[in-house]
Amino acid sequence: MALLFIPSFFQIWFFSFFLLTVLASEWIEYPSDGFATLTHYSLPLDYIASCGCTADSTHYPTAALSQMAYGSSTAYGPACGRCFNLTLLHTFLSVPPFYPPNTKSIVVKVTDLCPLSTTGWCNATTNGPNAAGNFLNFDLAYPSTSIPSDFFPSNATYYGYTDFGVWNISYGSVACSNWEGWNNDAALGSVTGQGPESVCCAADPTVCPPYCCGYPYSSTQQK
Ligand SMILES: *[C@@H]1O[C@H](CO)[C@@H](O)[C@H](O)[C@H]1NC(C)=O
Ligand SMILES: *[C@@H]1O[C@H](CO)[C@@H](O)[C@H](O)[C@H]1NC(C)=O
Ligand SMILES: *[C@@H]1O[C@H](CO)[C@@H](O)[C@H](O)[C@H]1NC(C)=O
Ligand SMILES: *[C@@H]1O[C@H](CO)[C@@H](O)[C@H](O)[C@H]1NC(C)=O
Repeated sequence: MALLFIPSFFQIWFFSFFLLTVLASEWIEYPSDGFATLTHYSLPLDYIASCGCTADSTHYPTAALSQMAYGSSTAYGPACGRCFNLTLLHTFLSVPPFYPPNTKSIVVKVTDLCPLSTTGWCNATTNGPNAAGNFLNFDLAYPSTSIPSDFFPSNATYYGYTDFGVWNISYGSVACSNWEGWNNDAALGSVTGQGPESVCCAADPTVCPPYCCGYPYSSTQQK
């Protein structure tokens, strides 16, 4: 009987993971201002996400950043703790695209990693952008006690639904003094007791300390 190689689910999974890790050897260097996509995800209140930022950071607007811009495939990355002003431009999956009558912005702190995938909005690599043509995706922790439930503009009468899922946005890197949690010390910095890396969620990072980011950057050395 001929031996057939039929890959198991695990082998397929492992190979995909291996391929992604190989592809993931170069991080995306992004300008301080530009365009991106914005999605949203559920982050429980007081949850300590990938960056190890304090539980109280979840009481203010936070976001996960797509892996290859975040700068790590495991936990702490150079984007951890950085603050960005995100401005909603329009939706583009809806027909027709929705251009809200008012401009809305929100300043978020990056506290989490949006893992690299083969498809989906966090799939941009140095080899190519996501489905919207963008190299960055911010995944907003929403709903959140810190963000009004009507934050995302909608037109239910016309579209028949309110959640557009994905927005085209402009982003700008801002000092974290612009972040709503800035005046609450408990919302700044990292949780303690997680080793030397627990200083990786700086209150207002400018450079990433080597032990947070790993030098030279590589997907296996990131921690
Ligand atoms: C965020 O961007 C909006 C729109 O460009 C601007 O009006 C607002 O001043 C910005 N906020 C900060 C803190 O930079
Ligand atoms: C990401 O996925 C979209 C389809 O969802 C695809 O068009 C795009 O080429 C992918 N990007 C990369 C870098 O693989
Ligand atoms: C996002 O908005 C910018 C600025 O208007 C535009 O250049 C870009 O094509 C838009 N992206 C999508 C996917 O619609
Ligand atoms: C909803 O969309 C329709 C059709 O474009 C428009 O006439 C109406 O003014 C919109 N309403 C709001 C609240 O945006």
